[in-house]
Amino acid sequence: MSVSSKQKIANAVAMQASGYSLEQIFYKDEDIYQAELDHFFLKHWIFAGHSCQIPEIGNYLTLNFDSESIIVVRSDDGEIKAHVNICRHRGSRLCLDDSGNAKRFTCPYHAWSYRLNGDLAAARNMPDDFDYAKNGLHSVKLETIGGLIFINLSANPPSLSAIRDDLGEILSHLGVDRLSLAQQKRYVIPANWKLALENYQECYHCAPSHQEFAKIHAMARAPEDYARLKTEYWAKHPNNIKFQQFNRYFGLAEVGQEGYQYDRNPLLSNKLSGRKNGNAIAPLIGQLDSYDGGASELMIGPFSFFLIYDDHVLAYRFLPISKDQSICDVFWFVDENAQSGRDYDLEQLTWLWDVTTQADKTIIQNNQKGVDSRFYKSGRLSEMETFQQSFLDWYLTLLALSAE
Ligand code: FES
Ligand SMILES: [Fe+2]
Repeated sequence: MSVSSKQKIANAVAMQASGYSLEQIFYKDEDIYQAELDHFFLKHWIFAGHSCQIPEIGNYLTLNFDSESIIVVRSDDGEIKAHVNICRHRGSRLCLDDSGNAKRFTCPYHAWSYRLNGDLAAARNMPDDFDYAKNGLHSVKLETIGGLIFINLSANPPSLSAIRDDLGEILSHLGVDRLSLAQQKRYVIPANWKLALENYQECYHCAPSHQEFAKIHAMARAPEDYARLKTEYWAKHPNNIKFQQFNRYFGLAEVGQEGYQYDRNPLLSNKLSGRKNGNAIAPLIGQLDSYDGGASELMIGPFSFFLIYDDHVLAYRFLPISKDQSICDVFWFVDENAQSGRDYDLEQLTWLWDVTTQADKTIIQNNQKGVDSRFYKSGRLSEMETFQQSFLDWYLTLLALSAE
C-alpha cells in the first residue's frame, strides 16, 4: 500500500468518533477495502460449511469471496483438505461448481489434473525437467470444531484452541457434530460488508424490522425487559451445560486466539423454537431431551455466527464480493437422522430466517443508499448497539495497525 494510502487510512481512523456509526470513507474507499481484505478476510477464520456436507471421499464445496476461491474437499484418506481454487499452469479457475463430487480436479483450460489432496497428477506435453512435486495446488489452512469447518488464508492464523477448550463440551452436548444440512441459501446484498455485519450485530432494529422474530425471541425487547427475561430464564436452569457465557469476541479475544462468543438467550413465553407459532419444528438435537424455551448464540471469528435452537441450527456467514456488494450465506441444519417430510417440514424450518434475512437485506440496502449520500454524517449509536460498537472499536484498531 502506498504511503499516501496509509496516511489516508490513519487520518480516517483518527477522525472517527467512538460511539458513532462509521464515516462514509470506511464504506466507500477502495484502499480501505483492500486493507480490509488483507487484514481481516485473509487473516481470520471463515466458516466453510459442515463436515456433513462432504461425507464421502471426493465430495467438495467451494467458498468464494472477492477475487478468492477455495475448494474444500474430502480427500482420499478421508481427511478434509482445502486448496486455493486456481490451476498452477496459467492460473485458470479450476473448479467451477459450488459443490459436487470429483475423483480428480481437471482444469477446464488445458486439462492439467490434480488429486483430491492437491498433488498434480497429470500435465500434458510438459518439458522433461518439469517438476510435478512443485506444482500441486496451494494449500489452505483448515480446522474443524465439532463438525464445523473453518478455513484460513493466512500463514499464521490465530489459534482455535481457546474455542475448543471453552466450547468443545457444549457443542458436543448440543450435537453440533451430528447434523445434516436441510437447506442453504445465498442472499446477495448490494452494500458494503460492514453494513451487513453491523446489522447482524445489533437487535435495535429487530422490533421495527422483524415482526416475526420479535414474536418469538426475547432479544427484540427493550434492554430492561430483555435483561429481566434472561435472568428469569437462566434461574430456571442452574448447572445446565448449555447455560454458560464466553465473551471473547473482537478486542476481548486473548492475544493469538481467534475471537468467539457463546451465550444462551430466552425465547418468549411458551415458545420452543424458531417457527411461525414458536412450536417445535424438528427432532431434538444432540443430547437434549426436552425444550427449555431458549436458544444459544455462537460466534466463531468475525464473520461466522450460529443460532442453536433445541431442534435445529442456523449458520450465517458474511463475505464481501466487492467494496459495494456482500453475501450472507444462511445454512439450516437438523439432527443427522432427521428427514425432510418425515421429521420436519422444510418450509416451516426455513420460514423465520428466510423472511428475517430478506428483511435484513432490504434495510441494509437502504442503509447503503443513505450512506452513499453527500449529506451522510455518522450518527450516534444506541444502548442496544453495544456489540456492534465493540466490533467497530476492534475494526478501527486493526485498520490503524494496517496503516502503520
Ligand atoms: S491454466 Fe489450467 S491447465 Fe492451463
Ligand atoms: Fe436483522
